[in-house]
This record gives sequence, structure tokens and C-alpha cells, in this order.
Amino acid sequence: MREIRPGEGWARIRPEWVALVVTMDDRNGRPNIITLGWTMHASGDPPMAAIAVGKTRFSHELLKETGEFVLAYPNSRMGEAALLCGTRSGRDVDKFAETELEPVPAKYVRPPLIRGAVVNFECKVVGTADAGDHTVFLGRILAAYEEPGEKEILLNFGSTPSGKRYLTGITGYKGQY
Ligand SMILES: Cc1cc2nc3c(=O)[nH]c(=O)nc-3n(C[C@H](O)[C@H](O)[C@H](O)COP(=O)(O)O)c2cc1C
Repeated sequence: MREIRPGEGWARIRPEWVALVVTMDDRNGRPNIITLGWTMHASGDPPMAAIAVGKTRFSHELLKETGEFVLAYPNSRMGEAALLCGTRSGRDVDKFAETELEPVPAKYVRPPLIRGAVVNFECKVVGTADAGDHTVFLGRILAAYEEPGEKEILLNFGSTPSGKRYLTGITGYKGQY
């Protein structure tokens, strides 16, 4: 056994599934999308999800203000969009306009679902935990949707030696594990 830094430890358990979290900006009625790797199933009954969002992110501000979000797991062809949503801030860009992601009205929350995502969950924030540079938001899942025929989720395999992030489905993977 060899001691390593915590970040190196997390890199050892990739690929990591990729999520898109949609929030609403009430100032202009515009939804925003953030790409997240740190999401988990937190309770079965009642159904809950947990997401870790950096305190500097625009999405952090919107989550605190509105207390609701959509948690979507993109399909394996949505890598380009996930990279844009994960490298640009909603403070500067309208991410639905900048990507091919298509909003679909949700039933219980104001932020929209994402058409074609493998799964979409509508969530209300029921708790938060201060986690250093991130906040963990605990969301009660009010509704869940699948997209029939979309089976392959988007995965994060980390960076290539040139530093480019590699997001794809298993069948599309051509690099090194
Ligand atoms: C693959 C990937 C995974 C990411 N995972 C997280 C995460 O778990 N938590 C987080 O706060 N930011 C994460 N980010 C970074 C945010 O997506 C990024 O800072 C984004 O531009 C913030 O957007 P916003 O300012 O519109 O909220 C990730 C980015 C990528 C590309």
C-alpha cells in the first residue's frame, strides 16, 4: 500500500458519472445549467439526492435563492454540452442558448428538464451541509423521468495527457483507463 493525496485517490475510481443540474435565475426567468461529478443517491424512502456545488459557482447562488433544481443524467452524446456547462458560468452565458440542450417544462419545480437525458429528477432542497469549498444540497425527489431508448449515461474519464477532459459513454471510449 502507498499513501497518496486525496485527489489522487478519487482519480483512481474513475470513470465518474456526469450530471447536469438546472436551476432558475428569478431575476430574468432564465434557467442555468452546471455540470457536476459529485452527485449521489442519498435516500430511497423518501427518495433523495445529494449534490456538491462549489461556493463560487453561480449555481450555488441560485440554489440558495430558489431551493429547487432538476438533476439530469445526460446521455453519452451530450459530452460537448456538458463541457461547456462545466467550464462557463451562467453569470456570462445562457447555456441553453449556447448548447443543443433542449428544455422541457417540469411539473413541480420551475427549472426545466433536459430532453434526451437518460434520467431527469425534479428536486426541492430540504437540507444543506457546509463542506469546505462546496455545499452539499440535499434534494427531495418529487418526480423522475426516463427517456425510452437512451441507455448510455455520460462518464468522466478524467483528463488526457494534454489536459483535455474526456467525457463519453463506455462504447465511445478510446483512451486509457
Ligand atoms: C466533468 C466536470 C465535473 C464537474 N463537477 C463539479 C462538481 O461536482 N461540483 C462543482 O461545484 N463544480 C463541478 N464542475 C465545475 C462547474 O461545472 C463549473 O465551475 C461551471 O462553470 C459552473 O457554472 P455556473 O457558474 O454557471 O454555476 C465540474 C466540471 C466538469 C467539466
